[in-house]
Amino acid sequence: MIIAIDGPSGAGKSTVAKAVAKKLGFSCLDTGAMYRSVALLALGQGVALDDDAALGELARTCTIAFEHAEGDPIPKEVILNGENVTADIRTAEIDKAVSPVSAAPSVRTAMVEQQRAVGATGDYVIEGRDIGTTVFPDAELKVFLTASDEERAHRRVRQNVDRGVGSIEYEEVLDDLKRRDAVDSTRTTSPLRAADDAVVIDSTDHYIEEVIDEICLLAHERGASSLRSCDAQDA
Ligand code: DC
Repeated sequence: MIIAIDGPSGAGKSTVAKAVAKKLGFSCLDTGAMYRSVALLALGQGVALDDDAALGELARTCTIAFEHAEGDPIPKEVILNGENVTADIRTAEIDKAVSPVSAAPSVRTAMVEQQRAVGATGDYVIEGRDIGTTVFPDAELKVFLTASDEERAHRRVRQNVDRGVGSIEYEEVLDDLKRRDAVDSTRTTSPLRAADDAVVIDSTDHYIEEVIDEICLLAHERGASSLRSCDAQDA
């Protein structure tokens, strides 16, 4: 079973996707981390961010893997060509570079192919922008998770403080979220939008645990048989 969780930056997709996967006993795939990894390679190798052919070559030839910490079923480490880049892909520099990189059609073709191959191996919660519309249009459950711009910026600042990477200036983070939303929503290939059959959840005024429980219930209704109960305290 595939659960697609799409939505703009900072809507809480990562937290929700990981918690839902844990409760249902599913694996979890963060497709944003894949685009960030290609952006990191492009910056490192001096590839122009509007050079579709060169970016596509990077995307096709790199190896992106996710590693689990001991005893934790949810992958948290991102390994790019054998190197741990978990923190390197969360900097403000990558926040800026990832929009043009993820708008490159040949990068998207390569990433979508890899994402489909991963999703074909089992039950997955997959988070991104185009999972329900393009990558897995037949996903059993599609969620479009959103929140107000201001709430998303506050959450992103808190996340950056916790992680110790990325900007912690509210105005800078808010501006960057709006800029990325605009690029992600207007690009020609797979723009950010809710699939027609997606369940739209606005998390602005809800505790994240409520959102997690709602998605777990929807998953159960659509046939997910979980090993764990859908109890918010498990998150
Ligand atoms: O979810 P995130 O903020 O880590 O994503 C980083 C960027 O990658 C974001 O600007 C949009 C892009 N992205 C995308 O275009 N398609 C996806 N499936 C996932 C992310």
